[in-house]
Amino acid sequence: MTAQKKVFVKTYGCQMNVYDSGRMTDALAPAGYETTDAAESADLVILNTCHIREKAAEKVYSELGRLRALKAEKAAAGQDMLVAVAGCVAQAEGAEIAARAPVVDVVVGPQAYHRLPELVAAAATRRSVDTDFPVESKFDHLPAPDAAATRRRGPTAFLTVQEGCDKFCAFCVVPYTRGAEVSRPAAAVVAEAAALAAAGVREVTLLGQNVNAWEADGPDGRTWGLGRLAFRLAEIPGLARIRYTTSHPRDMSDELIAAHRDLPALMPYLHLPVQSGSDRILNAMNRQHSAADYLRLVERIRRARPDMAMSGDFIVGFPGETEEDFAATLAVVDAVAYAAAFSFKYSPRPGTPAADRSGQVPEAAKTERLARLQERIEAHRAAFNASCVGATMEVLLEKPGRWPGQIVGRSPYLQSVVVTGSDGGIGDLVQVRIDGVGPNSLAGSAVVAQREPESRPVVAEGAS
Ligand code: 5AD
Ligand code: SF4
Repeated sequence: MTAQKKVFVKTYGCQMNVYDSGRMTDALAPAGYETTDAAESADLVILNTCHIREKAAEKVYSELGRLRALKAEKAAAGQDMLVAVAGCVAQAEGAEIAARAPVVDVVVGPQAYHRLPELVAAAATRRSVDTDFPVESKFDHLPAPDAAATRRRGPTAFLTVQEGCDKFCAFCVVPYTRGAEVSRPAAAVVAEAAALAAAGVREVTLLGQNVNAWEADGPDGRTWGLGRLAFRLAEIPGLARIRYTTSHPRDMSDELIAAHRDLPALMPYLHLPVQSGSDRILNAMNRQHSAADYLRLVERIRRARPDMAMSGDFIVGFPGETEEDFAATLAVVDAVAYAAAFSFKYSPRPGTPAADRSGQVPEAAKTERLARLQERIEAHRAAFNASCVGATMEVLLEKPGRWPGQIVGRSPYLQSVVVTGSDGGIGDLVQVRIDGVGPNSLAGSAVVAQREPESRPVVAEGAS
């Protein structure tokens, strides 16, 4: 029997990295690795890194500094510890990591995770670097998610259906670190979702850098888009909720919009980044749509699903952005009234078209615009949350709360809800009346009789 060894994974960045970290530990299990949540007790430490902004990438090198000290301590005590760098920094800076950080034993890019067990085994004698984009798909070679590990991770799960990006926004490293857009076959996605559901997963979030560009041959011989896939996944016993992220406005098909109208399992929360509200900046970013296109799209989506909670990403201080451009961004935020949104200062990334452009915006202006934008976003988030008070909505119970009698779950709109008075267990869907709003969550009490149809805050006004 293989001796038990321990692996500690530290995950940075996006949800796809969270998913990948799970797949990496699943892939290492047959080699005798079990997970630990402390680097100190690990035989193998994996940093699953993010390259999207400079700050994210720099974190890796400071963490590697700490690991160097830990590795030396352990070596003095006669213990080995291997250090692996995975993720998008590994892909973008493989050679540089090797040069800058001798502590690193393995460098593995996101498309080579299926080779991780051999890379780790080989690292006992020499450093191994694999940042290929292999012809074979890692998904065909990675083991299926482990049922026990899935159960431990709780009733929600991520599932990557699409990876990579062909859009080449002028600020973004993703097309270089994750490669071209690739969709996983429908049958593979359905099988993985069924395995997750069999292990107790009630809600699956389909992941992709351009998830709504997902397209593959369905079992009926037709080409399926994400909307069709969602309908198929909703047939899986036990799977009650489907979400997907991140979407590009240009890939929001009629079929997918119709699925939001017709498929109750498809949750009414949509992360649809626009990045800027200025046509001049959108053009310079190579987003290939205008602000008006985006607003029209949101309107169509809300016509299909009136209670759709919108979320977005914004960049302030893109090269050439003026006060007037920034004002246009604020106008989009007001027009959409986002339930949630993420905003960032533009960070020039080496190798991307915008990095060397003239008109770079001074740091102070970026800081000031970001603060104003976040204030505006926060006002809309607070208003949306406040509009939920008094409504009854379905909550998926996910984990115990801080105090006895509390269970924390998520609303259809992805709000965290602290539920009291429920005799439901983790993984149950319960009707909850929203009683109040905290800074980061809603508070609600379980409704015992579940006969009432779900009331939706945004449509409540017009409803009789
Ligand atoms: N600078 C700042 N933000 C960026 N993003 C992507 N690249 C950059 C960059 N160079 C943001 C975008 C994207 C999100 C994941 O990160 O808003 O949607
Ligand atoms: Fe990056 Fe644009 Fe592709 Fe999104 S669509 S991953 S922002 S290049």
